[in-house]
Amino acid sequence: MSKDDLKRAVARAAFKYVESKLEDDTVIGIGTGSTANFFIEELRAIAHRLNGTVASSEESARRLKECSIPVFDLNSVGTLEIYVDGADECNEHLQLIKGGGAALTREKIIAVASKEFVCIADESKLVPVLGQFPLPVEVIPMARSYVGRQIVKLGGDPVYRENCVTDNGNHILDVFNLEILEPRKIESEINQITGVVTNGLFAERGANRLFLGTSTGVKTMEA
Ligand code: 5RP
Repeated sequence: MSKDDLKRAVARAAFKYVESKLEDDTVIGIGTGSTANFFIEELRAIAHRLNGTVASSEESARRLKECSIPVFDLNSVGTLEIYVDGADECNEHLQLIKGGGAALTREKIIAVASKEFVCIADESKLVPVLGQFPLPVEVIPMARSYVGRQIVKLGGDPVYRENCVTDNGNHILDVFNLEILEPRKIESEINQITGVVTNGLFAERGANRLFLGTSTGVKTMEA
């Protein structure tokens, strides 16, 4: 099975899960990335039954609108029932690294504003210790070098992501060589650096449920 087959399978599993919970007024949070795109494709079939969505990126919003699915501003809806998104890495506690697609800030906002966060990922994303995937950090552009120096003091090797401007007009540092044994602590320490908008550790607000695509089928894990 290819990675895309596994991503399609978890998108389908999440779709069935969401559909089973759907009520007339449900607004769904939608993530960003190739796995989330498969989920958007699944939603197309029930577009007429959906009250609407909140998207974590301009790209996902565009794809949703293409499927005739309404996209709302988060400020115009209350707490979301459910948020579905992919991840770059996940540990057994369903703490995540996200931001490979540079959408980490809006993703984290939607995650904390949702009652349930359903993560969808292929099995390559499940790791014993987070940090093999470089940790994305969104920074205010003028603070980039300063933030980089502070991150070096924490033991990381920050690399400026070239030609990347986030939907919020900011830049991304990808931090290599962090062995993240205490995800909550590192998440908080990096967020304390002036000039950091968000970092891609989703430890304080991890996922509640993971649909993991494996060669033997979709496994479900709960936090
Ligand atoms: C975007 C993200 C994505 O969820 C993450 O990069 C996973 O992407 P994909 O589903 O393409 O593997 O955090 O900012």
